[in-house]
Order: sequence, then C-alpha cells, then structure tokens
Amino acid sequence: MKKSLGDMGELFPQSVFIIASYDEDGIPNAMNAAWAGECTRHEICFNIGDHKTTANIVKKGAFTVAPADLANVVSADYFGIATGTKVNKAEQSGLTFTRSEHVDAPVIEEYPLTMECEVTSIDGDEHGARVVGRIVNVLVDEKILGEDGKVDFGKFKPLVYDSSHMSYRVVGDEVGFAWKTGKELM
Ligand SMILES: Cc1cc2nc3c(=O)[nH]c(=O)nc-3n(C[C@H](O)[C@H](O)[C@H](O)COP(=O)(O)O)c2cc1C
Repeated sequence: MKKSLGDMGELFPQSVFIIASYDEDGIPNAMNAAWAGECTRHEICFNIGDHKTTANIVKKGAFTVAPADLANVVSADYFGIATGTKVNKAEQSGLTFTRSEHVDAPVIEEYPLTMECEVTSIDGDEHGARVVGRIVNVLVDEKILGEDGKVDFGKFKPLVYDSSHMSYRVVGDEVGFAWKTGKELM
C-alpha cells in the first residue's frame, strides 16, 4: 500500500556542491548547495536564496563548484551553516583558497575536483536566483584519477545529501553500466 507524503520532493541523491566565489573586496567565500546539478555536460545549474554567495555571483559573474567528498564532510557542512556576511569562512575553515586561472572565483585546494564556471544566465537577483553557469575548465587532483586517466569516483568517495533525514551519505559502488546493463531486456 502507498502513502501520500505531501508536496516536498523526495528525490535522492541530491548534490553536496560547494560553490565558491569572491566578493567585491576579493574575500573568498563558499556555501553548500543541495538543490543543484549538471544540467548539460557543459553547464551547472542551481537555486540559491538570499546569501552572500548570491550577491557575489551577481557581481562577479563567476563561481567554482567542488562536489564534496568524504574527507571534507566537516567543512562541507560548515559552509552550509555559517554565512560569509558574518565570518570569513575561508579563514575559519583552515582550507586553502587560491585564485582560479580561468574565472574570477576561488578554488579550494583540499577539494580534489573543481569545476570553474562563468555565469550564462541568472533568473533573479542578489536576494535569490536560479543560476546557470558554463563549465570553463575542470581541475582534478591526480590522486582521484584512475589508470584510464578519468576521474575514479570509487577513489573520490562523493557525498550526497539525504533530504529525508538531513544527513550526508557516501556513494561509490559500481553496480551496472549505462547503455549496457539494460540490454539484458532487449
Ligand atoms: C546540506 C545543505 C544544503 C543546502 N543547499 C542549499 C541550496 O541548494 N540553496 C540555498 O540557497 N541554500 C542552501 N543551503 C544553505 C546555505 O548553504 C547557507 O545558507 C549558507 O550559510 C550560505 O552561505 P553564504 O551566506 O556565505 O553564501 C544548504 C545548506 C546545507 C547545510
């Protein structure tokens, strides 16, 4: 028997994306975003409310996105509960924020995978917006590359957000192959 749970999404997994940006004084900041995703192979989109990050992105037209991994779970959550309007999260986290060579936004060195993005559309303003960014470059730490030279998500251990219990989970097991496993039914 099925039960109705109301009108809030129960889609799993959701992202744990760390969106990093600079403010007008060049102070780096980072926030956690679960309502985000890769909307084409070359674009990332997300919905953000009235945050320091939103104002930064509106001003700079650029950001980076680092998917969080198991090793960075503490800072990933911290970036989602503290605000850059009150504290310098880059300093407080103890992590290393360096300037992207491709866009006007910071790269967090301790996060092994980063997408450097420039804004292509903003529906909204600094108080809340739906943002789409074009991926200009992907930076990856060699330690998470496989022998084939591609990102090995088994090594990376990505976090996902479980909105049902407001927790973080780890994914990684390979249980099938896209465009192949389903052929069993053809
Ligand atoms: C797990 C998690 C997911 C979040 N996802 C979003 C999101 O998708 N959009 C959003 O606007 N805020 C989201 N937040 C809240 C922001 O990360 C939070 O308000 C943060 O303090 C904003 O930082 P800033 O003011 O320094 O930009 C999330 C927080 C957590 C802990």
